[in-house]
Amino acid sequence: MANAFDVVVIGGGPAGYIAAIRAAQLGLKAACIDEWQGADGKPALGGACTNVGCIPSKALLQSSENFEQAAHGFAEHGVKVKGLELDLAQMLKRKDKVVKSSNDGILYLFKKNKVAFFHGRGSFVKAGTEGIEVSVRGETIQATNVIIATGSNPRALPGADFDEKLILSNTGALAIPEVPKRLGIIGAGVIGLEMGSVWRRLGSDVTILEALPIFLGAADDQIAKEAGRVFAKQGLKMEFGVSVSKVSSSKSSVKVEYKSSDGSAKALDCDRLIVSIGRVANTIGLNAEGVGLKRDRGFVAVDDDCRTNLPGVWAVGDVVRGPMLAHKGEEEGVAVAERIAGQKAHVNFNTIPWVIYTTPEIAWVGKTEQQLKAEGVEYKSGSFPFSANARARSLGDTTGLVKFLADVKTDAILGVHIIGAFASELIAEAVVAMEFGASSEDIGMICHAHPSLSEAMKDAALAVDKRALNI
Ligand code: NAI
Repeated sequence: MANAFDVVVIGGGPAGYIAAIRAAQLGLKAACIDEWQGADGKPALGGACTNVGCIPSKALLQSSENFEQAAHGFAEHGVKVKGLELDLAQMLKRKDKVVKSSNDGILYLFKKNKVAFFHGRGSFVKAGTEGIEVSVRGETIQATNVIIATGSNPRALPGADFDEKLILSNTGALAIPEVPKRLGIIGAGVIGLEMGSVWRRLGSDVTILEALPIFLGAADDQIAKEAGRVFAKQGLKMEFGVSVSKVSSSKSSVKVEYKSSDGSAKALDCDRLIVSIGRVANTIGLNAEGVGLKRDRGFVAVDDDCRTNLPGVWAVGDVVRGPMLAHKGEEEGVAVAERIAGQKAHVNFNTIPWVIYTTPEIAWVGKTEQQLKAEGVEYKSGSFPFSANARARSLGDTTGLVKFLADVKTDAILGVHIIGAFASELIAEAVVAMEFGASSEDIGMICHAHPSLSEAMKDAALAVDKRALNI
C-alpha cells in the first residue's frame, strides 16, 4: 500500500525531523507530517525552534551584538565607526533568510534520506491493537508506529491574550518592525533574557517583571548572581517577586499593573509587552481524546522509553515531560527510532546541557552547587575567572568564570557551570567529560590549546584540587 509506513512522525521540529531521518537511516519506511508554513504558504520545516525560536533568536542576538559592539566595543580596539545606523528591516530580513535556509535544509535532508513528507496537520483516525491510521489533509496514512513530536506553544497570561502586535509571544518578539522605546517583558527566563538583550542592544528601555523572588533559579547560584550583576550593568531593569494583576492595552501601548515584592501596587507602561512565562505542550488537533491517548498535565504521558499508553505510539520532545530543549527532543527522537528498529537506546538526562545565549553566554551541565547541598552530596569546587585567561583578554571579553563541581571522594565531575564568551561552545567539553565519567583531574591533565578560552576549563578543573596554574 502506497500510504503505509513503518514510522509516521507527527511534527517536523528538531525532535520530529531527526526521528524521521534516523528511522529512514535504519531502513524503516518513514514519513513526517508537519503543518508549519512560511509567509509564502510553503512548508517551513523545523518547528518552533527553526521558525520562531532557537534559530531566528540566535540570528538576531548576533546582529544586535554586532550593532552594540560597533557602537560601544570597537573603539577600544582602535576601530572608529562614524555615522553608525541601524537598518532594522535588513536585520529582520537576514534573520528570515537564516530561517528559510534551515527550513529548506530539512526538506533537502528528507529527500536525501527518502523520508516522505506530508504538509498539513496530522490527526489520529484510529490507534489501537487493530492498527494505526493518521489523516492529513483528507488523506489517510497507515502506520505501524507513530511518533508524536508536536512540540509546544507559548503560555499566555490570563487576561492578556497574544495579539502579536502589542502583546507578543516569542513569535512577535522576533519581528517587531521598529525598536520599541519602552519594552516590557513578563518572565525573566530564557526567552525573556534573550529577547530583552536583543531589543536593549538595539535601543529599547527594557524592564523585566519576574514572579519568582530569585533570578535564574535553575542556574548555579554563583553564576546567576554574576549574570544578574552584569545584566543590570548593561541596563536591563529587572524586578523580582512581582504578581501581575492586570494587563490592558490601548491603541499603541500596554499597561501592566502588578504588586511588587514589598506589597505595593505598581504599574509599568510600555510600547510593547513580551510575555515569556513558559510553554505548554501542544496536542491541538491530534484527536488525542478520540483514540484514548493518555495525558498528564497537558503533556502526552510517556514511560522512560517515550512509549505512550497506545501500542506503537511514541512521543518525544516538548510535548512530553522533561526540559523543553531542542537537543533533548533530538536525543529522544533518535532513541525512539532506534528502539523501533529493535536497537537498545538511552538518553542520559544528567548530561543535557543548558545554554542561555545572552552576553555573556551562560551554560551548564549537571548539578548546581545548591542542588548538591540539598541532596547532601559531598563535593569540592574549583573556579577560574576569564579575566585570568589570555585569550579572553585578547578578545577584550573577560567577563565571567568557569566552575567545576566534583565528588569529594571520587573526583567525578558532578556539574560544570560557565558564564562568559562562547560558553555555549565550551560546555561541550564538560558534556563529553561527564558522559565518559571523567574526573576533574582528567580535564586538568588534558592538553588544551594556548591561547584559548578552553584553557579556563582546564584551570577551573585544576582549581578543584587547588592547583590552577594561571591564578
Ligand atoms: P522559562 O521557563 O525559561 O521562563 C519563564 C519565567 O517566567 C520563569 O522565570 C517564571 O518564574 C516566570 N513566570 C512564570 N509565570 C509568571 C508570571 N505570571 N509573572 C511573572 N513571571 C512569571 O520559559 P520561557 O523563557 O518562556 O521559555 C520557554 C521554553 O523555551 C523554556 O522551557 C526554555 O527552555 C525554552 N527556550 C530555550 C532556549 C535556549 O535553550 N537557549 C531559548 C528560548 C527558549
